[in-house]
Amino acid sequence: MLRLRRYRVFMICAFVITVLLYHVSKNSQWERPNVYNKVEAPRPLKPQSQSQPPQKPPSGGSHDETVDRPVPNRETSIKIPLLKTTSEVKGGYGLPKAPLTSTPTSNAVKPHKTDAHETVKVRPPAPTVPQDTVSASDIAIHWKKPKEWFPVATESLIALPTGLPKPMPKVQFQFKEESAAAKEKREMRLAKVKAEGFRAWSGYKQFAWTHDELTPVTKKAKDPFCGWAATLVDALDTLWIMGLKDEFDEAVVAVKAIDFTTTPFRNDIPVFETIIRYLGGLVGAYDVTGGHSGKYRVLLDKALELAEILMGIFDTPNRMPILYYNWQPSYNEGPKRASTVSVAELGSMGMEFTRLAQLTGDNKYYDAIARITDALEELQNRENGTALPGIFPVNLDASGCNRTAAARAEQRAKSEAAQKQIEDAASLSDAPQGYSPDAHGHGSKPDRGTAKDDSKDLEFQVKRDVAAKDSPAPVSAKGLPVDWECVPQGLTSGGYGSDSYSMGGSQDSAYEYFPKQFALLGGLEPKYRAMHEKTVAAVKKYLLFRPMAEGNPDILFSAKAVSPDGTDENLRYEYEVTHLTCFLGGMFGLGGKLFDSPEDVEIGKRLADGCAWAYEVMPTGIMPEFAQILPCEKADDCHWNKTMWYEHLDPEVSWRNTQMEEYYARKAEWKVEMARLKTEKARRQEAAKKAEDEAEDRRLRPANDTLPAGTGAEKPRIDPNIPHDAGKDLRDKESHHNLKRDAYEGERSEDQTDGKKIEEKVKKLESELDLNSDSGYQNSQQQSWDENYQKPMSEIYFPAEPIKPLTHEEYVAQQLKTERLPPGFSTLGDRRYILRPEAIESVWYMYRITGDPIWQEKGWRMFQAVIKATQTEVGHSAIDDVTSTTQPLPADSMESFWLAETLKYFYLLFTEPDVLSLDEWVFNTEAHPFRRPTAAGRKR
Ligand SMILES: *[C@@H]1O[C@H](CO)[C@@H](O)[C@H](O)[C@H]1NC(C)=O
Ligand SMILES: *[C@@H]1O[C@H](CO)[C@@H](O)[C@H](O)[C@H]1NC(C)=O
Ligand SMILES: *[C@@H]1O[C@H](CO)[C@@H](O)[C@H](O)[C@H]1NC(C)=O
Ligand SMILES: *[C@@H]1O[C@H](CO)[C@@H](O)[C@H](O)[C@H]1NC(C)=O
Repeated sequence: MLRLRRYRVFMICAFVITVLLYHVSKNSQWERPNVYNKVEAPRPLKPQSQSQPPQKPPSGGSHDETVDRPVPNRETSIKIPLLKTTSEVKGGYGLPKAPLTSTPTSNAVKPHKTDAHETVKVRPPAPTVPQDTVSASDIAIHWKKPKEWFPVATESLIALPTGLPKPMPKVQFQFKEESAAAKEKREMRLAKVKAEGFRAWSGYKQFAWTHDELTPVTKKAKDPFCGWAATLVDALDTLWIMGLKDEFDEAVVAVKAIDFTTTPFRNDIPVFETIIRYLGGLVGAYDVTGGHSGKYRVLLDKALELAEILMGIFDTPNRMPILYYNWQPSYNEGPKRASTVSVAELGSMGMEFTRLAQLTGDNKYYDAIARITDALEELQNRENGTALPGIFPVNLDASGCNRTAAARAEQRAKSEAAQKQIEDAASLSDAPQGYSPDAHGHGSKPDRGTAKDDSKDLEFQVKRDVAAKDSPAPVSAKGLPVDWECVPQGLTSGGYGSDSYSMGGSQDSAYEYFPKQFALLGGLEPKYRAMHEKTVAAVKKYLLFRPMAEGNPDILFSAKAVSPDGTDENLRYEYEVTHLTCFLGGMFGLGGKLFDSPEDVEIGKRLADGCAWAYEVMPTGIMPEFAQILPCEKADDCHWNKTMWYEHLDPEVSWRNTQMEEYYARKAEWKVEMARLKTEKARRQEAAKKAEDEAEDRRLRPANDTLPAGTGAEKPRIDPNIPHDAGKDLRDKESHHNLKRDAYEGERSEDQTDGKKIEEKVKKLESELDLNSDSGYQNSQQQSWDENYQKPMSEIYFPAEPIKPLTHEEYVAQQLKTERLPPGFSTLGDRRYILRPEAIESVWYMYRITGDPIWQEKGWRMFQAVIKATQTEVGHSAIDDVTSTTQPLPADSMESFWLAETLKYFYLLFTEPDVLSLDEWVFNTEAHPFRRPTAAGRKR
């Protein structure tokens, strides 16, 4: 009985499953496996359903025909071949399923210091991967220390420079005792900054605790940076500096619990962001709390935990780093090569690893980044290495493999292969190729990605090869793929044909780190000074410009130069005003002080002033992400010229003038015609009246009133004797022509460019002619007068008045009104403000360097504007449009740099100047302070 019931239940279940399966199979991808193989990154309902193309049922039954059969209730004929067993899903990490939520091309990210339009590769919106696409088994995957393929022998490690730190010029101004009034004002401001810091932190704590970021409008959290509590780690030292000790201690407890060996959110660790935010945050917090003599050893321990993982990125043949690190063991086991990178991502790890080496005495950290410095130095010094000697193109090929040489070799190999095929037509199967792993016979593996350029995406191919356990690539004695070797080279331009050079996103912090590294190393490594000085010389020679702006402010910005041909001869410039570039004032100021170049300090002031100015000219008082402005030809002979600005905004001045001339001519003709038609109308009305009168007369004549019915005599008739072309006199060629000319001359005599005057004149003429009162019929188009000419009176059409085009001035005025461009600006490419720090960073450097309280005033105005526009109930939000004349819309984003950098710099602008003095501290690009070695002893 029991058994039978169980059996029945089973039967019912089987039936239900059968019916369901039938329906699913009718609609699902299972019937069209090939489509799915090609789809790059579909949002899977279930990650595993897409991992395998459909297979024949294991029983070898007649799957295909039964599925198609429209009779669902034949349970025995339908198998369940497509559902994998749980053990199958869990097993075999050879192809773990988490990676399927992203594509191989996801191996790049838009770092926060990167312009969207300069992103090297495209990535899907990984940060918002919903958690439910990742199942519990993924979370179980942990990073494991992989085998080292290209280790550096201990004796070859590049060691930290030794010796006593060199004396260096003071960076900070020698501040004097402040007045009581000044102190009160300063402390009041300081308290306001702290209050906003507390607001942001409390919002994070309440709604996003241990997540990466708070969404400050919706009061939720998001995890774009692996979910290791980015805001919490990034804000540690800010909390400490602001004196939020309890909050700090609470955060340190949470730091202890972070597990850097796993993340459910990403398959790749974004290396640049991880280093500057997490590693920098931990090291900075360790340093500000006293370092080895402090009470927070756990901060260094966590930094080392993270660094241990990150060291894997340097395990490449040329020791250039992998910048999107596929941390999962299955992807991480094989040999790797660096790919095309942005300068900033490559060059912005120096300080963090250098400080770790100093704190631990372990040279492996210093070695890792010293090799990058050396590679950059070699490129900077290579003859014709870059189009603008001294600085680098935004994209660099860090693979260490000479593509040109490889392409040639491949070409050779191909022709040899072709030759061989001719010789032996039978051996089609072995096709020897160049070094590209793709060419090595595992073409049978389904292509899951869109490897556009095989030689370019080596890293991805390696991963794929590693993943392809079922068809292992042939390996050499060392365990490397036999085609691993390549023609070596140093760093080269990673652009194809045209390279862009600027101090903006994707490049900024690489340069920023040269003087900072010099300071951090106590002046013991001279190459950083040399590299800085070459950079600065190139920036001065090629990039700096003074904008043409109302009031002729003495400010500077740094442009972007694009070299189309690898030389500096045909540069194309974009005169940018970008928020990311605003760090440059601070860099010039710091470098100018460290290397005793007053000129550079002056330039730094003008650069910092440029950004402060760009804040003030916007309606919200905040600078946009990206804009363009008109440059002056010469910095020392620069005058605001509104005519020139207008001409730039509307280059079609002469076309517009022609349009106006044509309009005047049409308008004159129109007026003549209107006069003619009006006369004619009057005449016809008169004639009709006359005819009517006559008819009336006839009707009243008694002797002759017997007219035949239906002749319509009761209606007034147009007297056939009155000609239709009643305006005969006007049509007379001579007089018509004269009239037109007179009217045209009348128009012309006005100042053509003065739209208002013309308008007034036309209005006057119109009222004189009294045309508007009965122009009767408004045509949308002008009627040609010939068309009107022969019409009977009842159908006289008055041609529409010609539409007046916009004058140059009117056109520009309209453009300015809709786009809200401040004087001098030519475009506003990105109107957002996303809580970025670079402008206040430079303002702060200038305050500490010059001691001039004007910088505090500028900074305070910036602070008030920013808070007004971004404050939400629980934090602060990026905004959509800094030119908004009302309240800009919040974008519901509060990146971790808001607390880590922006608020920290605002705060430090109003502390006493010896808090984190620039003579004792050096800040990484995320505003994390590292202790500089002093002559008194390099470690504290
Ligand atoms: C560098 O470029 C200059 C000018 O284009 C050329 O004369 C010179 O030969 C080049 N040097 C090298 C090493 O290619
Ligand atoms: C790459 O190889 C080509 C051809 O062998 C050579 O001309 C070129 O200089 C090499 N490039 C670098 C950066 O070494
Ligand atoms: C302003 O610019 C216009 C157009 O470029 C030029 O013709 C004019 O001479 C300039 N005015 C001054 C004062 O430089
Ligand atoms: C009536 O009018 C007709 C022509 O319109 C004319 O021939 C006739 O003589 C008139 N009759 C009288 C009585 O006037």
